[in-house]
Amino acid sequence: MENTPVKSAEFRFNEISFFLNGNRRAARLSPGISTLDFLNKELHLYGSKCSCNEGDCGACTVVISYPREGEIVYEAINSCLYPAAKLHGKHLITVEGLGTSEDLHPIQRALLDHHSTQCGYCTPGFVMSLFALLASIAHPDTESIMAALEGNLCRCTGYQSILDAAQELSRDFEPANIVPSWCRKVEALLFGFKDPAQSVFINSDSEYSINNYLKPESCQQLASLLNKHPEASLIAGGTDIMVQVNVSRRKFSTLIDLAEISELKNLQLKRDGIHIGAAVSYSRIMDSGIVRSDLPALTKLCRLIASKQIRNFGTLVGNIANASPIGDSLPLLLVYDTKLIVSSLEADREIPLQAFFLDYRKTALKPGEYIREIIIPIPPRDSFIMALKTAKRKSVDISSVVSAIRIDHEGQSAALAFGGVAATPVLSKLFAQQWKAAQNGDWQALAQSVASEFSPLSDVRGSAEYRRQMIINHILQYAEAYHG
Ligand SMILES: Cc1cc2nc3c(=O)[nH]c(=O)nc-3n(C[C@H](O)[C@H](O)[C@H](O)COP(=O)(O)OP(=O)(O)OC[C@H]3O[C@@H](n4cnc5c(N)ncnc54)[C@H](O)[C@@H]3O)c2cc1C
Ligand code: FES
Ligand code: FES
Repeated sequence: MENTPVKSAEFRFNEISFFLNGNRRAARLSPGISTLDFLNKELHLYGSKCSCNEGDCGACTVVISYPREGEIVYEAINSCLYPAAKLHGKHLITVEGLGTSEDLHPIQRALLDHHSTQCGYCTPGFVMSLFALLASIAHPDTESIMAALEGNLCRCTGYQSILDAAQELSRDFEPANIVPSWCRKVEALLFGFKDPAQSVFINSDSEYSINNYLKPESCQQLASLLNKHPEASLIAGGTDIMVQVNVSRRKFSTLIDLAEISELKNLQLKRDGIHIGAAVSYSRIMDSGIVRSDLPALTKLCRLIASKQIRNFGTLVGNIANASPIGDSLPLLLVYDTKLIVSSLEADREIPLQAFFLDYRKTALKPGEYIREIIIPIPPRDSFIMALKTAKRKSVDISSVVSAIRIDHEGQSAALAFGGVAATPVLSKLFAQQWKAAQNGDWQALAQSVASEFSPLSDVRGSAEYRRQMIINHILQYAEAYHG
């Protein structure tokens, strides 16, 4: 087999070209450096704060603006997890750009007026989350405000004063008054942005946690790079990978970033179902009318995953490839009968999701392969499909137990899948076999029987006994919803 060479012109320095608070900038990056470290350590901008360094607190929130499907979007992200290499071709907006102490931005003024800040450490993060929200939606309701802020923690003020400020802003301001004119000027430039030279970054200096950060622009380049760098790991959003870099201090010799490969950004309805590419974020899925109409349970479930900041760049395919037994999307994708299209330099192949998880964090991917996209067949309109997540907190928390159910054709066939009860996400065999009994109303016996099928572990998120009880509780909740 021959390696397809990647054009040598693309093996350039690790430089990016982007906009920062209205001004075009170029920068030479340490490979894999996060946007937060880039801001704090290299640009000496200290407004964005580091607290947890793992996506939980929102103190580091900044906003990125870029063209998405023909429109400019403003998205809040956790800069501690967002590799600065991803800023290429985007507009990075930080709290320093929005206002000064003499001339506060309306969001800063509202937070001040409502006494929404004490020590102030969290405030830049709240300002930026509110900026992304109010730049994107006119007069958001309380639920949208809460969703936008659930990834921001404050340990001083309590949240009511922040919510009051946000509600006043929502009432009194339109995006036109929130987005400064320098952002609007950059919007036009973002559409015309052409600077392909820095598409792949190489740096082999061993002092870094990530030595090589490669950014291919096509699936062909990606397959070649995987072939050439068998040691490489893939990075889509990076919301799992960058936690490993920041917190577990894991070192990567080579990371290959999928986010700029346009073929992987597909979200399309085709004859065999909805195709979702490897670089499609949760937020795009949630915004998709096709998904909302044909896979409403997926839209609802995405809302329960992580925070707005994480959903803006974390991907559904990353959740699958990460192969955590508590990946929230996996039970639902199992009952949807999802198929993975896996590619390599040699060929494409299709793997049913059921056959993908081999053991704890072990998947059916072979060396040189990556998941290109997933296909979710559209269920019949009369199918009953629902997912449940049990976690200690409502937002930004990992599940103890997550599950999904599907009942087709008035009970002719049924599937139930769980995460958090075995080494991999699993479909319940007993449920498929014994489902008919429940049709006669004996859900309690069925729930007890399914609970005995699994031997969950005890860990910080729950004991084995607790998890077995959750299996029963989820099934009884499904029974209630099904019989309505
Ligand atoms: C604060 C926080 C909260 C979170 N909350 C939740 C939650 O509520 N529920 C939940 O399920 N998860 C949660 N996560 C985990 C994470 O956000 C998700 O798993 C997300 O879907 C990962 O997607 P990503 O694109 O960021 O993955 P990445 O970090 O880019 O990649 C994840 C893994 O998949 C591999 N990979 C990525 N794409 C491909 C591909 N196309 N082919 C082959 N391998 C690939 C990578 O090499 C890596 O091993 C949370 C994470 C954080 C930091
Ligand atoms: S520092 Fe806490 S989310 Fe980034
Ligand atoms: S004002 Fe102190 S953490 Fe929010």
